[in-house]
Amino acid sequence: MRIVSTLTRDEIAGQICELINKYNGWARRFTPARLKATDTTYVVELVGNKVAGVGGMRKLSNAQTEFMHLCVRPEFRRLGIANLLSKKRLCLLETPIALSYIRSDNIPSINNSIKSGFVPIKADYKKGGYNILTSKRGYSLLTFIRFKNEGSNTTLRNVFKEILHGTLFIGSYSTV
Ligand SMILES: CC(C)(COP(=O)(O)OP(=O)(O)OC[C@H]1O[C@@H](n2cnc3c(N)ncnc32)[C@H](O)[C@@H]1OP(=O)(O)O)[C@@H](O)C(=O)NCCC(=O)NCCS
Repeated sequence: MRIVSTLTRDEIAGQICELINKYNGWARRFTPARLKATDTTYVVELVGNKVAGVGGMRKLSNAQTEFMHLCVRPEFRRLGIANLLSKKRLCLLETPIALSYIRSDNIPSINNSIKSGFVPIKADYKKGGYNILTSKRGYSLLTFIRFKNEGSNTTLRNVFKEILHGTLFIGSYSTV
């Protein structure tokens, strides 16, 4: 079977860059050429001729894959698209562990990550940037991980719940 989309690869790459550059807050700019030169897999949700949402994944080693560049167009948010993109990426996951990095002031993304079974395991303080929770400069970059295997992941979640006394995120992480 051969399936051809009405949007070309270049058009999709262009829209992915537009989304990431506008909403993901990276200092460096992404171009279609740059994207195409990477070995990142981008899962996209199309609505008409628009990329409504995108989620990237990049294998770091035989053990870990990084989930990144998750973004949904504002007009399509809160419709479950990020959730779908995360589920699809978990299906495609070839390593036992997935990880992602999220700023401690990005509540939608933190909630979405937790909903997708991820657990925050580490907070690294970054000097630059503005923390909307504390109104101070600086924020923490949270490392989230999850196991592909549901059984192992339930154990991981329970262990961390106990360690953090049920406080899975925000309060204890937003400042240092
Ligand atoms: C984060 C983002 C991808 C969520 O996309 P979305 O399609 O709206 O998310 P979904 O509708 O699939 O929601 C899934 C879960 O995420 C959480 N969530 C999403 N938006 C939220 C919001 N505004 N506030 C709080 N929680 C939110 C909820 O837990 C939600 O589950 P629920 O609807 O059952 O409560 C989207 O807000 C976005 O593109 N933000 C800008 C880019 C960005 O910050 N990307 C992440 C970089 S690490």
